[in-house]
Amino acid sequence: MDAVHAYIDQHMERFREELDAFLRIPSVSARREHDDDTRRAAEWLADRMRDAGLTVTLHETPGHPIVVGSHHGAGDAPTLLVYGHYDVQPPEPLELWTSPPFEPEERDGRIYARGSVDDKGQLYLHVKAIEAHLRAAGSLPLNVIVLAEGEEEVGSANLMPFVDEHAERLGADFIVISDSTMYRPGMPSIGASLRGIAYFQVDVRGPAGDLHSGSYGGAVVNPANALARIIASMHDDQGRVAIAGFYDDVDTPEAYRKQIGSLPFDDEEFRAEVGAPALGGEAGRTTLERIWIRPTLDVNGLLSGYTGEGSKTVLPSKAMAKVSCRLVPSQDPDRIRELFQAHVERVAPPGVTVDVSFLHGGRPWLATLEGPLVDAASRALERAFGTAPVFAGEGGSIPIVDEFERVLGARVLLMGFGLPGENAHAPDEWISVENFEKGTHAAAALLAELGR
Ligand code: BES
Ligand code: MN
Ligand code: MN
Repeated sequence: MDAVHAYIDQHMERFREELDAFLRIPSVSARREHDDDTRRAAEWLADRMRDAGLTVTLHETPGHPIVVGSHHGAGDAPTLLVYGHYDVQPPEPLELWTSPPFEPEERDGRIYARGSVDDKGQLYLHVKAIEAHLRAAGSLPLNVIVLAEGEEEVGSANLMPFVDEHAERLGADFIVISDSTMYRPGMPSIGASLRGIAYFQVDVRGPAGDLHSGSYGGAVVNPANALARIIASMHDDQGRVAIAGFYDDVDTPEAYRKQIGSLPFDDEEFRAEVGAPALGGEAGRTTLERIWIRPTLDVNGLLSGYTGEGSKTVLPSKAMAKVSCRLVPSQDPDRIRELFQAHVERVAPPGVTVDVSFLHGGRPWLATLEGPLVDAASRALERAFGTAPVFAGEGGSIPIVDEFERVLGARVLLMGFGLPGENAHAPDEWISVENFEKGTHAAAALLAELGR
């Protein structure tokens, strides 16, 4: 194993240059105008996976391609499936970036670029760990499959049927995903849970066109006012979601809640980090509970009427909101969809039409925190970081995780190398250079540990 780790150190400069090349491709899955770039990222990754020694195929989907690489040279040793995504979130607002989003720049031990931490850097380090084994040791200690998709940031709609259809080819004993964060710098972490998601668009329509708010205001129902009332009806004054039945299926193991309470956490530090005047949320819950094990309902975007400079007296003809619910075990996105739609129907005021569309859903997930996979990961992380990992929850969603466990029948390990404040989905996204390097060592050590 020493030769493998020495190889990683010797070749780290090149690994970093390759990652920079990956980061220069603007693979924004949400935007049609970036379709060619997104495909280029898939092809670039497929080529690098071939260079690393994998057998690679690119699978077309109705959306962006799925890249599958494999190396089955370890006979009846177990198989590890590595999953990640090569697509990124839109970079806007561009003016808030210190350096351009697709021109990676190192500053203060961080690589700044869209996708650096979510998820190109974290995906690529696994490819480099595989390369290190194949080049330095001449073989892999177990069989590997690398599965990379280009639609994670838009809901993984084409990956689900792909996994169902190719369950046999994707057969694995263990699954590892690096697409999450460490609890703190220097504290390697194993993900203990993910929240699920149900994402809606609410469209409210009133008069056929915009109207003079003096000549008509007061006699025609204003869609913006109506939408505000609909949204306001979705929480009570205790910060709870006021949709009937919303909490029915929430069941968090008490032991997990206790374990969360044992992690060091400072509300004031967290408040300062996000730059909010005060923290807020569901009454009677700690911040970590609110982020990790309580469901939410949040407006992600609002659109209506005049939003330019100065004032314009106008009664808008329509209003729109994007609303997401983060879900926790054992809430079901389809059930939440029914409850959400029923609620909107109940509270929608007369005089406007209201349409709810369901954009995507994903199930929450609770990790199994014992067994050979977690043991191997603990040893690998300790070897790379010099300290044993903690178990930490995650507030975000990776919809395919639950699907993997159900369809492939293998446990998932979340071994993330992001850090708090990494600005994922925001301007100035970064990955720590140290974590990229140590993450590569941890990924290599995980292969060795699982192959033993
Ligand atoms: N890597 C994130 C998920 C994540 C974030 C895991 C933070 C753990 C901690 C992923 O790329 C992501 O952004 N997922 C989306 C899913 C959605 C588009 C279905 C999310 O959480 O918003
Ligand atoms: Mn991600
Ligand atoms: Mn993301």
